[in-house]
Amino acid sequence: MDVRRLTDRLGGLAFGGDYNPEQWDAQVWKEDDELMRRARVNLATVGVFSWALMEPEEGRYDFGWLDDHLDRLHADGVAVDLATPTASPPPWFTLAHPDAMPVGPDGSRLTHGSRDTYCLTAPAYRRAARRIAAALAERYGDHPALALWHVHNEYVTLCWCDHTAAAFRVWLRARHGSLDALNEAWGTAFWSQRYTSWEQILPPRASQWHRNPGQCLDFSRFWSDEALTAYREQRDAIRAHSDRPVTTNLMLPSYQNLDLWAFGREVDLVAVDHYPSAPGIGAAADTAFGADRARSFGGGAPWLLMEQGANTVYEAGRILGKEPGDILRHSLGHIARGSEGALFFQWRQSRAGAEQWHSAMVPHAGPDSRVFREVTATGEAVARLGELAGSTVRAEVAVLHDSDAWWAMQVDGLPSPELDYHAALRRAHRALWDAGLTVDFAHPEHDLDRYRLVVAPALFLLSDAGAENLRRYVADGGTLLVQHAGGAVDERLHARLGGFPAAPLREALGIRVEEHRPLGRDEEVMLSDGSTATAWSECLRTEGAETLAAYTHGMLAGRPALTRHGFGTGHGWYLSTRLDDPGYAALVGRLLAEAGAAPELPGLPPGVEAVTRHAPDGRSWHVLINHLADAVPLPQPGHDLLTGGPLGELPPGGCAVLRTH
Ligand code: GAL
Repeated sequence: MDVRRLTDRLGGLAFGGDYNPEQWDAQVWKEDDELMRRARVNLATVGVFSWALMEPEEGRYDFGWLDDHLDRLHADGVAVDLATPTASPPPWFTLAHPDAMPVGPDGSRLTHGSRDTYCLTAPAYRRAARRIAAALAERYGDHPALALWHVHNEYVTLCWCDHTAAAFRVWLRARHGSLDALNEAWGTAFWSQRYTSWEQILPPRASQWHRNPGQCLDFSRFWSDEALTAYREQRDAIRAHSDRPVTTNLMLPSYQNLDLWAFGREVDLVAVDHYPSAPGIGAAADTAFGADRARSFGGGAPWLLMEQGANTVYEAGRILGKEPGDILRHSLGHIARGSEGALFFQWRQSRAGAEQWHSAMVPHAGPDSRVFREVTATGEAVARLGELAGSTVRAEVAVLHDSDAWWAMQVDGLPSPELDYHAALRRAHRALWDAGLTVDFAHPEHDLDRYRLVVAPALFLLSDAGAENLRRYVADGGTLLVQHAGGAVDERLHARLGGFPAAPLREALGIRVEEHRPLGRDEEVMLSDGSTATAWSECLRTEGAETLAAYTHGMLAGRPALTRHGFGTGHGWYLSTRLDDPGYAALVGRLLAEAGAAPELPGLPPGVEAVTRHAPDGRSWHVLINHLADAVPLPQPGHDLLTGGPLGELPPGGCAVLRTH
């Protein structure tokens, strides 16, 4: 399915958000019509949490109210992203199917009264989800307002119930083939864990001490596959009645329960929800981090920012408001990196209910508000960018991202609590972002030839195929940086024997790690180049590599910390510790210079973001975002789509989209 179909239908990039008219009355709907016109909204996500209204009792549908809203939106020129409501089953469902409520690792079963109260593996839930998806598709599959299908909402809920146990066993049989193979993979010879029948095997529920790491890793893989199957079932039920593209909104949180590469292959376009987890300039960097991942999971194809906040998002431990101008800057941060628009959660801020304090495009204060004025200005800006639809982004640098490696760093019994997959990826991306580079993410087994530089920040788990792929990448001329604890275990979480990392990679790096020496939380080590490092150190020896920096104190004094190895026509770099920020930035600078990778639009100061979108016919546009408090002269003045005129200077905090052709 071609994603151009979405932007063709919209006549440009998408702008809008989740629309929940069932929370309001006819007078407010009338105001919505007028405000959506003012804000240039052209896409509304409808029905995400409407199961109780769509199916008030099992098997009885009431779609009359939805007909009215879809017809009204269509008459107003607003296309619809129609959601299946399966993330929030109504109370009647719970009472009829108590076995379909999620159970925690400690065995406690949840009740209704919130959302996401379902177990994905419960047969009754899956039947009900398929049924309502099919009913919606049958009714609205060719509705003129319909532009996109939105299956479910953020597949994030896990469960450890007996249905899950049964499904996990089926998955394990398919993966391992025999109990002997499973016992071997999980290392059950230790702690007397040997299984002698499949029925003995459980999901990794709460237990006395460390849970079996192999069991935990397989459970993560299983759950992701199960969620993908549940997605596919709904998608296929929809496709039987509709030719519109189908997707699901993926969450990009700091935890991991889905293999987003696998989801990227199954959706018609990748759609993500993104809420920055840092303030100020950190929010801009985080936006880029999210957007670069979203684009990469879809293989570089155009994608869609399905949700962002218009202002404050209240969640446990995280209250981040947007600064004036952020609505446009963040929207453009996503569009710059290939999003086919900018959508929000939600259109109108709820008066009541669990998320009444989450911000929205129309806040409680109404349209006479800073937020709505900024939303309107952003809607106008996005409406001027229609010619970017379908264009894509190029990157010369990749950071490796592997769900298995992430899950491997979440199991019990790791050598250090400081091994944080997400933080390591974010840091690598941030250093490259600070240097002005556009970054792709890639899987260790992907074809990496198009990248001048590949950074592997947290590749604790590395498959044999991945290790061989990286060896070949360096041999064929690539520049590769592998960071500490890389290649320590294989795909079964078994330690690599005879020295780390995995053998083929060792050859490319010209080193052999003999001993991991994790550092205490407050411990710091000095390196011979003047930098400092924390969290981790290693006792390694070079086997052909040159030492660029060595440890200066303690038992590692004089031992290599940072190495570089010429191998084939490329270079394999190894960093055995976590460098301080200036040291890491300097290392990234050296790597970029060696690899010959540079910003696509050179000559801009740090703090000014520039990403280029390329159309297949050769047209291209620079999207520029100035995060500085000063005006910045442009290296190449050009025609700015946002102002519709020539532009030679970016105002403080300002944005521009320059046509380069
Ligand atoms: C998203 C979710 C929305 C809403 C939003 C609040 O993750 O999909 O339904 O909860 O967060 O910020």
